[in-house]
Amino acid sequence: MRSCILLSLGLLGSALAQTTSVDTYVATESPIAKAGLLANIGPNGSKSSGAKAGVVIASPSTSNPNYLYTWVRDSSLVFKVLVDQYTAGTDTSLRGLIDDFVTAEATLQQVTNPSGSVDTGGLGEPKFNIDETAFTDPWGRPQRDGPALRSIAIVTYANWLLDNGNTTFVSQTLWPIIQLDLNYVANFWNQSTFDLWEEVDSSSFWTTAVQHRSLREGSSLATRIGQTSSVAFYKAQADNLLCFLQTYWNPSGHYITANTGGGRSGIDSNTVLASIHTFDPAAGCDASTFQPCSDKALSNLKVYVDSFRSIYPINNGIASNGAVATGRYPEDVYQGGNPWYLSTMAVAEQLYDALYVWDTQDSLTVTSISLPFFQLFDSAIQSGTYPSSSSAFTTLTSAIRTFADGFIAIHAKYTPSGGALAEQFTKSNGAPTSAVDLTWSYAAALTGFAARSATNVASWGAAGLTVPALSNMEQYVNYLIGLVVI
Ligand code: NOJ
Ligand code: NOJ
Repeated sequence: MRSCILLSLGLLGSALAQTTSVDTYVATESPIAKAGLLANIGPNGSKSSGAKAGVVIASPSTSNPNYLYTWVRDSSLVFKVLVDQYTAGTDTSLRGLIDDFVTAEATLQQVTNPSGSVDTGGLGEPKFNIDETAFTDPWGRPQRDGPALRSIAIVTYANWLLDNGNTTFVSQTLWPIIQLDLNYVANFWNQSTFDLWEEVDSSSFWTTAVQHRSLREGSSLATRIGQTSSVAFYKAQADNLLCFLQTYWNPSGHYITANTGGGRSGIDSNTVLASIHTFDPAAGCDASTFQPCSDKALSNLKVYVDSFRSIYPINNGIASNGAVATGRYPEDVYQGGNPWYLSTMAVAEQLYDALYVWDTQDSLTVTSISLPFFQLFDSAIQSGTYPSSSSAFTTLTSAIRTFADGFIAIHAKYTPSGGALAEQFTKSNGAPTSAVDLTWSYAAALTGFAARSATNVASWGAAGLTVPALSNMEQYVNYLIGLVVI
């Protein structure tokens, strides 16, 4: 009995110590991450010389790997962070930079490139030179997440401008840019794409999830400004995307299969990133949109995290329910196949998002699908709904917060003293490796930290959606299409 009490006091003590050190890390790393991100944006960023105004370089690294290019995906995720900070009033100095970004992306949309011209698929081009010319070497193209992510970032800005009475700029300047991206998504979502890691040419959960979000938000914006001609088309394609999204769930493996191709397990950070970047607190723990606290997304998180426990030496000796370093996917060999800062942070972010919703709705629900996840924190827990007044709720949420903080603690442990964030840290000893100062690593740190303090929590229209039922004929056609694809 006594040893049990001592043990639990010991665990409590270490959880408190971890909270304090994570608090400290968040406080010191936040301004470093923000500065690191801004340094990589032209024309004045200190590490982005040569980049045109509003152009985000992926990293200043020019060899092994050469990332001195601008990717639509990375840039849009980076500017979503800045738009969120600007529209929340956290940083009111960002308006000029955001306008530069919009102008730069409008230029890139019109640059004919190996994926096509603006009207023939060119919006799917993943990367450009930082002087806004086309990159013409062989590459994994197209990547169809780019237009979706870009429209999500710009729609957030547009909605804020409308709230503040600037209708003209939205209708005349932003809408034509957004509309090109929405049309691209609506027209091409059903065609194969290279995944976000630029390797697998198939359908990709991440891409489908962000495309779905983009068409929902885009059709709401279009309605709001009276641009209704394509709204029915966008909504119909959004329904199709939501329907298709369901097919990535692997019911026997209890995880989301990241890509329909690729010849791998399909366990992949793609899916965790999709959940956090399509988080909508108003949707509660909805599983059809794979919300962070949904049973499917939590089960997926456990399978994903567990897949790295035995393959990275730096994870050796960590308890089977402790936080570990995670990477893109377990089979990865790129630059040594190491843990990534942004992937490890994404796990923390999903958990904070989940905690926010449970706190807001004053309960959490354990289902047969999420039971193994919750058993990490209470081996005796059963399926059921636990109100916030129950001891199970308190025990689980406090253990899950400690687990989430554990991923930030790992991130902190392998961040060098100056706070610079590379792309990866080695699996053997945690030293930073691959691209230095990865802009996306900084952006991911900022969104993870924001989730920890529940800031910038906004909705995009995921609440109340229902997965459209397919008619028998549609099911039969899908079955035939499946046969042809295989
Ligand atoms: C292969 C990597 O896995 C991929 O992620 C990367 O974008 C390309 N090579 C180009 O560096
Ligand atoms: C490689 C990553 O796999 C890809 O997602 C990213 O866009 C580029 N590097 C640039 O950061």
